[in-house]
This record gives sequence, structure tokens and C-alpha cells, in this order.
Amino acid sequence: MTEMSTTKDRPILLDVKDLKTYFFQRRGVLKAVDGVNFTVRAGESVGLVGESGSGKSMTCLSIMRLVPKPAARIVEGQILFNGQDLLSIDESDMREYRGSKIAMVMQDPQTSMNPVFTVGNQVEEPIKLHLKERGAQAMQRVLDALRAVRIPSPEDRVKQYPHQFSGGMRQRVVAAMGLATSPELLVADEPTTSLDVTIQAQFLGLIRDIQKEHGTSVIWVTHDLGIVAQMCDRVNVMYAGRIVESAEVQKIYKDPQHPYTKALLDSVPVMGARRPRLYQIDGQPPDLRSIPTGCSFWPRCPAAMDICKTEYPPATHLGGDDFVHCWLAEK
Ligand SMILES: Nc1ncnc2c1ncn2[C@@H]1O[C@H](COP(=O)(O)OP(=O)(O)O)[C@@H](O)[C@H]1O
Ligand SMILES: [Mg+2]
Repeated sequence: MTEMSTTKDRPILLDVKDLKTYFFQRRGVLKAVDGVNFTVRAGESVGLVGESGSGKSMTCLSIMRLVPKPAARIVEGQILFNGQDLLSIDESDMREYRGSKIAMVMQDPQTSMNPVFTVGNQVEEPIKLHLKERGAQAMQRVLDALRAVRIPSPEDRVKQYPHQFSGGMRQRVVAAMGLATSPELLVADEPTTSLDVTIQAQFLGLIRDIQKEHGTSVIWVTHDLGIVAQMCDRVNVMYAGRIVESAEVQKIYKDPQHPYTKALLDSVPVMGARRPRLYQIDGQPPDLRSIPTGCSFWPRCPAAMDICKTEYPPATHLGGDDFVHCWLAEK
């Protein structure tokens, strides 16, 4: 939790409206993202949580306009960044945003780095591309970026290749690549999944420091509600391609509204238990090729009523930016 609940009065940086991203397959349409709405304010850290396969990564890739082509397509919605709809600009303008104003740190650092180029070359790439800096000036910025993520002896490290770095150090390099151009928004898709607990804690502290210093907004995708509590001002709970609840972090832990949110919080392991890779709740997440009619959670919901099986619940606004989609809250 960064400076508690001060972010809700800040200007909106990112406004995602009714975003839909579908995979068109021979067997049918897979609705990976099916009407997602959320905002990120300046300097705010927003969590995106939910079971595996709920559409978190596809939401992030949609914001970056990097959905896998031609299998997936953004079919509807707006992604307003400082008021500019990123879905209506052409690819060359989007390339300007990507890397300079919006950066993404991926789930898997192995795939975000090229094994045949030195670490220095790779961190330099976005700097050359977006800041149009070259030579000594660019190298200075590379060294600064590596220092910012606390990589020791960056002057020596820049000449090395990714395989000469440990997993934790590689993840820092990927963060340095993203942060080198001081983006306004960092999209972090489970960046700590492959790190052990101690290294993870260091990495989180690092991102928080950088964020505090530069006022960077962050979207945190994570399975780990502990990370959310530590890092986020706001949480968006995603289920079957939609955000079913959005609330300030203190509020959601104290008073979750959606039965799915409650189930997630109940599934948090007790202190000292082994960290599970993902939380588990009863039943299976739906197949996104055939999402149940009504509320997609009803087959697993202990409180399901008749209306839940036929109609998707509208957003019930709960003050500030908070909302929930649940017939129980509508009542
Ligand atoms: N390249 C792909 N081809 C087909 N389906 C995909 C692909 N990538 C993701 N999906 C499907 O899209 C849905 C959402 O995936 P994803 O956004 O990766 O989920 P999450 O990040 O929440 O685990 C899942 O049902 C997944 O199977
Ligand atoms: Mg994912």
C-alpha cells in the first residue's frame, strides 16, 4: 500500500472502457477479454487478480496493442491514455507510446531478452528508439537504469549476456529496460513469479522506490494477494474475461462484495504455510468458449439466485471508483 487512499483524487491516466479481445478459432470464439472496464490514476498502483486463464495477460497485451496476431483481435472498446484512444491511432504512433510512455514487464524474463545480444545493447534499445539518444549519452542512461534497479558493477555487467545473469538479476534487467525511458505507466504481468521469496521482496521494494521517485502508475498482474496488499492502492478482480469487482485495497480486504472475491480471500494461505502457486477455490473456471449465461460465476457461487443464471448483473457503484457486478449488491 502506497500513501493510503490519496490516489483517488488524482487525474485519470488510463481509462479502459468496455474492452473486448477475442480469439477467433475454428471451434468458435474464445472471449478472453469480454467487456473490461477500469481506470488507473496518476501514480496509482492497480492490481489485476484472478485465476489463471481469466484474461489478465490478454488485458495487458491489449493495452500495449500486442495481442497475438492474427489469432486474437481487439473487437471493441476504448483505451484512453491521457484522453487519447490508443485503439484509434496508427501503429507508428502506437510504437511511440510503447516503450516511452507505457512499458511492460513480462511474466517470463527469458522470453523478454535476446540471448545473442549483450545486456547493455538490450537496455539501450528503447533509449535509442524513444529518447533518440546515442553513444556516451545513451550508455550513461543505460548505466543509470541498471543502477536504479541495483545491479552491482553495471559498467562490467553491460558487456555480459543474459545467460550470465541469475534469474533475479535478469528480472531486474527487464525492469530496467522498461523503466529506462521513465514511462508514465508500467504494466507488470506477474514479474516476480519466477523469483524466490527474498529476491521477490527486493524486486518489489525496488519498483516501489522507483515509482515513488517518478510518480509512475503501475498495473500489477499477480496471483499473489500478499503482493497486492503490499503494492496496490486498488484491486480489480477478474473472472472469465471481466472485472467483477474493483475497490480500494483496504476496503476489499475488509469488506469484499463479490462472492468470488470472498472466495479468493478465503483461499489465502495462513502465514508460514508454503506459498502456493495459485489459490484454489472449489469448481472449475469456465471455458471461455462457452461462458455461462447470466453471471459467469453462478455455477460456483454459494449464493446464486435464479436471476444470476439468466442475466449478467450491471455495475453497482460503491463510491469513488469502486464497483461490483453482483445481483446481491443490486438488491
Ligand atoms: N495464444 C492463444 N491462443 C488461444 N487462446 C489463448 C492464447 N493466449 C491466451 N488464450 C486464452 O485466453 C484466455 C485468457 O488468457 P490469459 O489472458 O493469458 O489469462 P491469464 O493471464 O489471466 O492467466 C484463456 O482462456 C487462454 O486459454
Ligand atoms: Mg497471464
